[in-house]
Amino acid sequence: MKAFIFDLDGVIVDTAKYHFLAWRNLANELGFEFTEEHNELLKGVSRVRSLDILLEIGKVELTEAQKQPLLLKKNEEYLSYVYKMTSDEILPGISELLDYLDTKKIPYALGSASKNAPLILDKVGLLKRFTAIVDGNDVSKAKPDPEVFLIGAKKLNKKPEDCIVVEDAIAGIEAANAAKMMSIGIGDAKLLSEATYVLANTSEFTLEFLNKILN
Ligand code: BG6
Ligand code: MG
Repeated sequence: MKAFIFDLDGVIVDTAKYHFLAWRNLANELGFEFTEEHNELLKGVSRVRSLDILLEIGKVELTEAQKQPLLLKKNEEYLSYVYKMTSDEILPGISELLDYLDTKKIPYALGSASKNAPLILDKVGLLKRFTAIVDGNDVSKAKPDPEVFLIGAKKLNKKPEDCIVVEDAIAGIEAANAAKMMSIGIGDAKLLSEATYVLANTSEFTLEFLNKILN
């Protein structure tokens, strides 16, 4: 019997747009531009590493102590958007997919880099549905390290080779490969070429596709 491990941002919900608004404001306050293209570099990346990438873009050098209030400020703005989230923001096809997995008694866990993952799941009404949740608070090594997914497999009582990871970030696909798990990339097939399968978006989780990967 298989099990699923889902990434959160970009797979269950599109929170990248809120991360973008908060990072862009921070960059502007520091005196430089931050574009949607820049934001792509932060997908799947931890909060602390994201700030370092942003500062590299702006060529701003700060001490660790100077970075702390910026991380807090960014997260506060991000959370102001998260608090307004509702189930309307669940990406297309995801609710149907979870319903299907429930009917087939296929367990699923969350494997996210976000420290805000439980709050976001709660806001969109999905918190109680996951058998296990592994988030940015539970790991010592960020994706592409496989730690987050290996803990997920353990919590699901599954062998890594029986887990199917759903991910939108390259680092996440690399983590799944390092964990020896099958992976489904969501997004651009060229970018996610290391995934076992790639779907252009979450509405492509058709019954036909699910039968193919589960049998
Ligand atoms: C990942 C996002 O899921 O979580 C990243 O793709 C984000 O963009 C990371 O930086 C950490 O999120 P948070 O909520 O802990 O700041
Ligand atoms: Mg993601």
